[in-house]
Amino acid sequence: MRIKIFDTTLRDGEQSPGASMSVEEKVEMAQALEDLGVDLIEAGFPVSSPVQMEGVKRVASVIRKATVVALARCVEKDIDAAHEALKNAKNKMIHVFIATSPIHRNYKLRMNKEEILERIRKYVSYAKKYSELVEFSAEDASRTEPPFLMEVVKVAIEAGATTINIPDTVGYAIPDEFGHLIKTLKEGVPGIEKVDLSVHCHNDLGLALANSIAAIKNGATQVEVTLNGIGERAGNCALEELVMTLKVRKDLLDFETGVNTHLIYPTSRLLVHITGLIPSRNKPIIGENVFLHESGIHQDGVLKMRETYEIMKPSDIGRSSETLVMGRHSGKHALKKKLESYGVHLDEEHFQKVMDRFLELADKKKEVYDDDLLSIVSDVLREPLRGYELRYYHVHTGRSILPTATVKLAFQGEEKEAAETGNGPVDAIFRAIDRITGMKTKLEEYVIQAVGSGKNAQGEVKLTLKIDDSLHSGRGVSTDIIEASAIAYINAVNKHLILTEKLLQKDRDTAGGADR
Ligand code: KIV
Ligand code: ZN
Repeated sequence: MRIKIFDTTLRDGEQSPGASMSVEEKVEMAQALEDLGVDLIEAGFPVSSPVQMEGVKRVASVIRKATVVALARCVEKDIDAAHEALKNAKNKMIHVFIATSPIHRNYKLRMNKEEILERIRKYVSYAKKYSELVEFSAEDASRTEPPFLMEVVKVAIEAGATTINIPDTVGYAIPDEFGHLIKTLKEGVPGIEKVDLSVHCHNDLGLALANSIAAIKNGATQVEVTLNGIGERAGNCALEELVMTLKVRKDLLDFETGVNTHLIYPTSRLLVHITGLIPSRNKPIIGENVFLHESGIHQDGVLKMRETYEIMKPSDIGRSSETLVMGRHSGKHALKKKLESYGVHLDEEHFQKVMDRFLELADKKKEVYDDDLLSIVSDVLREPLRGYELRYYHVHTGRSILPTATVKLAFQGEEKEAAETGNGPVDAIFRAIDRITGMKTKLEEYVIQAVGSGKNAQGEVKLTLKIDDSLHSGRGVSTDIIEASAIAYINAVNKHLILTEKLLQKDRDTAGGADR
């Protein structure tokens, strides 16, 4: 049986703190997801900000095989925005949702059951005027009274929904219970056999994958996932976990997906570079450690017979040991081919920038690795200079010296300079940047690692900054780790500026009426 993969990396995934993507980054990720073989790509929530609207529009204009999905509440202006954003899509779907559980009805929406049903009837039909494919989600379905959920689903189908999605919004369900709920719906709701039955499981108890598997065993035909499992709070069911479980345990789970598993790792790395969100080392399938064997007994076993301790091969997910890309003399064609193996299809302008940066790096470093290249791609795709730009820096440090940093930044054409001391050169440079921006920041996380190997590896800094109660990730790569740190810091500050701009716009848009 073929299961549809509905990827929501660009919508629910983007809701992870620090995961917001620029329009260009979204477009690149969407193309890579399409190459990976997902069936549907949820590209965003167009009414929520002009950047979201633009992101969905751009994704809709380039994706040709997968269906592009836009999210909307059961509200007219949301659905109008989704319709507007999807105008140029070859295959489109509007996804409308409303919460159905008692806690959401009573405290969030302050609506009774009849009012909820009325909204569903009205807005699913409204969305249907714009799009043949309409998905309806009953938010917090797993905490909704099953008899009411059955009524909800029946009404949505009658109003024209072509997919019914049952989210475990807060990751509360237990696999047997969730499987039973899907079976109850499948057996008890008239007309359900005509539509796709989808599930969307969050991972708050670490059960998102188990719940999704229980659902397909009980009749679900679509699973909503994100790459690397990113998403609200503990994230969503991870695409790579679901797809590889179905592949590895085909003996028990006779389901197929359209995903080309050999592209899982490259696509996952692209996402890491774009968002700066590093999966834990032991993250199933894609974590750093999952094909390493530490204990002597395990090493011995693997050497004698790989299957003693490995249930899949690194190559099954397109993971080879560090791949040497090319050197100074590799041509444009080779670079293009390498990028395409990661699902990256750049336009001429971006490609030329990547080529120039690659040559610059190849001059500094003897060997350029795949991860070096992905870093360059994500740098080039980053929001084009909206915010601060590093113009100059100098640090003075050493033993028994008070570390001092001088920084010059440009902001909207104006240059500003500041000097500060700190506990170390990185602290000093961060303080100098704060002095220029005037922002109150708290460094929540700072990770430095080598990209590639050997003494000439580049330093990659990923950090998370808290500014005004929101978290922003930043990433910087350089052969100089102080510069990489400064770039990462400025990157996070710029994300904050973009978000503030978005919020201001949202305030302007929603001024004049609450709608839920
Ligand atoms: O988790 C959830 O309930 C959602 C819905 C909008 C589908 O993300
Ligand atoms: Zn969700």
